[in-house]
Amino acid sequence: MNARSPFFWGSATASYQCEGAWNEAGKAESLWDRYLHEAHLENGDVASDHYHRYREDIELMAKGNQNAYRFSLSWPRIILNREGDVNEAGVEFYSRVVDACLEFGIEPYVTLYHWDLPQYWQDEGGWLNPAVADAYVRFARVCFDRLGDRVRYWATFNEPKWFVASGYLIGNYPPGLNDPQLAIRAAFNVMYASACCVQVFRDGRFQGEIGIVHSFSPVDGIDETLETRIAMRYADNYCNNWIMDTAAKGEIPIDLLADLNKRYDLSFMSSRQLDVIADNTVDFLGLNYYSRTLVKPYTRGETSIVVNNTGASFKEKPRVVLKDWFEQVLDDPGMEVTAWGTEIYPDGLRRGLLDVYNRYHLPIYVTENGIGVVEEINAEPIDDEYRISFMRSHIEAIKAAMHEGADVRGYFAWSSFDLYSWKNGCEKRYGLIGVDFDRDLRRIPKKSFGWYRDFIARESTAEK
Ligand code: BG6
Repeated sequence: MNARSPFFWGSATASYQCEGAWNEAGKAESLWDRYLHEAHLENGDVASDHYHRYREDIELMAKGNQNAYRFSLSWPRIILNREGDVNEAGVEFYSRVVDACLEFGIEPYVTLYHWDLPQYWQDEGGWLNPAVADAYVRFARVCFDRLGDRVRYWATFNEPKWFVASGYLIGNYPPGLNDPQLAIRAAFNVMYASACCVQVFRDGRFQGEIGIVHSFSPVDGIDETLETRIAMRYADNYCNNWIMDTAAKGEIPIDLLADLNKRYDLSFMSSRQLDVIADNTVDFLGLNYYSRTLVKPYTRGETSIVVNNTGASFKEKPRVVLKDWFEQVLDDPGMEVTAWGTEIYPDGLRRGLLDVYNRYHLPIYVTENGIGVVEEINAEPIDDEYRISFMRSHIEAIKAAMHEGADVRGYFAWSSFDLYSWKNGCEKRYGLIGVDFDRDLRRIPKKSFGWYRDFIARESTAEK
């Protein structure tokens, strides 16, 4: 274990969303490259050009008093092919990123997989194929071997719930499948791969800690009735428990398995794999918090999931209905929502952190939190008072949870600078720093960047 680090006040990005250089220096194609090129949609070919500007970006983080940077490694930049040949240029790129972090006094906090699967593995069935889980673990081993002397914080996956549901159940992300049976298979392979990765990390006696990052959406009910409580349990299993129970306790929730077993074939889960899951639980939980899920009991209609990754002009509210299980509620009076229909609800974070801590007793990092808006990037500094208010209220919620006993060890704003938002293109901006995508990719700090810098300075003085 590490000597206890200071509280991390940082920010986060993901490889596909910010690096660009999609086919440079030997990088193989990812499934997002293929999917967005074929669909002729806005893509991350250039994105924020972090591949070429990483030093400037990391230096800006340091000027903003941030002491940690959460970023992900692109598997197809590091591993060239199914045989596992290593792309030295890819490894060197990440080695330079890690070195820049250390030079500027920033802790590198590394996610191994933030959705950019190599296309050569998608061609073999993607996460439906158990061989991909094995290949992922070999990729992770290369990363530990080559960067593990300097990186102390690793996350196996970013948001299995989100990329599995979107890619295999809803179909709005690649590989665009829409089949619950396949989604269950992919989900299991991912959680098994995560446990194998933890095993390799421990067996190799690498320094530091390993966790998983989850798209955390605490569940509330519209009332206190038994029916609503049952709907809440279904929703919690769908939204949260199959990730957190599996990764942190080594158990897939038994009531979820019993429900699924009535309708789907689960015989592909072997007892050997379940043992690996049981024996290799994580050191910490990373929680990405954007909103809660408010539910009521299921009433009628087929399973349907409306998603909001379609641009700010999309007016249908994103909503989940799972047949016989629950319905998400979005018309509660007084709900405050973003232009994309996401509820702004900081108290969900306070209660959620306490609940997660009381359930798992593991250290928690808030690994993403932020607000996506359409912004003009010509005035300097960009006046994003709404982002300051969003961050302030969520940080207050974290502090309240810590005061009530939750072991929270870091906060990462999403995102360090503007980047590509999956399917929304670059229109949906989350950054503390603006990027002028239309002209020269210039970095222009927003007011929130200065607010966060001054806030961290005050916090650090208080900590000493
Ligand atoms: C998280 C992801 O789900 O939310 C990020 O880890 C993502 O990659 C972020 O960008 C915001 O979501 P979106 O779809 O608005 O970009």
